[in-house]
Amino acid sequence: MPQPLADVLAEVRTLLLDPALTRAVAAGRRRGQTPSVTRAELRPVALKGGPKLQIVTDDGARPFTRNVTFGDEAAAAVDELLAEPFGNWHVETSSATVQVRITKKGDAQVHRSAAVTTGDLAHDRTKQWLLDPGDPLFSVIGGNAAKRRQVDAFLRALAATLPEELPTPLRVVDLGCGNAYLTFAAYRYLAGRGAKVEVVGVDVREDQRVRNTAVAADLGCADDVTFVAGTIEDASLPFTPDLVLALHACDTATDQALARAVRWEADWVLAAPCCHHDIAAQLKGSPAPAPFGELTRHAIMRERFADVLTDSLRASLLRLHGYRVEVVEFIDSAHTPRNLLLRARRTDAAPTPAQREEYETLTGQWSVTPALEKLLS
Ligand SMILES: C[S@@+](CC[C@H](N)C(=O)[O-])C[C@H]1O[C@@H](n2cnc3c(N)ncnc32)[C@H](O)[C@@H]1O
Repeated sequence: MPQPLADVLAEVRTLLLDPALTRAVAAGRRRGQTPSVTRAELRPVALKGGPKLQIVTDDGARPFTRNVTFGDEAAAAVDELLAEPFGNWHVETSSATVQVRITKKGDAQVHRSAAVTTGDLAHDRTKQWLLDPGDPLFSVIGGNAAKRRQVDAFLRALAATLPEELPTPLRVVDLGCGNAYLTFAAYRYLAGRGAKVEVVGVDVREDQRVRNTAVAADLGCADDVTFVAGTIEDASLPFTPDLVLALHACDTATDQALARAVRWEADWVLAAPCCHHDIAAQLKGSPAPAPFGELTRHAIMRERFADVLTDSLRASLLRLHGYRVEVVEFIDSAHTPRNLLLRARRTDAAPTPAQREEYETLTGQWSVTPALEKLLS
């Protein structure tokens, strides 16, 4: 629930001036306002002359560092920063993490959690997370441990799919982006690797387009991350993407995304399928080939088998269209049962006769025609 901004900033002020502070970051901007610096980072440092509060501000061109003495000097510097119209504050102390996002109405959305790490925070962070837990993105999407883990697992899969040297510009589309937190995570991670990244998120819901566009402005990346309200099948994009994401797009929306990726000749595709109904319905309507009747006799078994068959056939079809495909666990199944990820890289290798035959035998024996096959034919 939003809280009065003044009260929350008073709490942030106390934390920033407390010796238990580990690190704090201010970034983004409030609606219609622009801070004099794009980002400010504060941390206590031990210098020869005694403990100081280090403040690093960035004007977009270069960082500027100063070390101020705790007491009046630090209080004045902190007050100056709190008066800036930043859109987010992320404050870590030895015992807690407080994230603040200033809403369009000028209130504060606050998320408080236990400290994310102990010990050498900077070292732990580099070791554990691909996207800094202090990234302003987490102030926007909420930074609880489960969400950080999901973002991190997704970014690790992305990193494992892409080459060491990224093309620049790297053009990305996220089909069925929803509230786009993985879209933004991909952008911030890839841009952090030094590539010029352009991202378009597509979702059929106009309200998501409006909301996500506002988030992009808050995060200061509205020029690079844009949103389109339209369908996966035919939304028009400002570019042909190199990388296609389709994460938890429902049922055959995943097939539509894969079909578009193939037609665009996208170099990389990451798809985490969601619910599977298409093949399950086809299995229900026709007898299983001998001796596999037991696999589809009971509804729960039929559904699970249909999930596996659907994604196997998707992988197979992508291979027939010149992709090298891996199917991996997306994130820990304790987090969500929708935890499978199809990871594909275009090689343009021609399919072998054995691969074709395997696909045709499998679909023929089970009397199924996958949605993706129809879309690609
Ligand atoms: C379960 S959400 C997943 C959101 C996001 N990709 C994620 O993983 O957090 C699926 C989203 O896909 C959108 N969607 C489903 N079918 C679509 C279609 N045919 N065209 C465009 N968007 C679609 C829905 O509106 C919804 O926002």
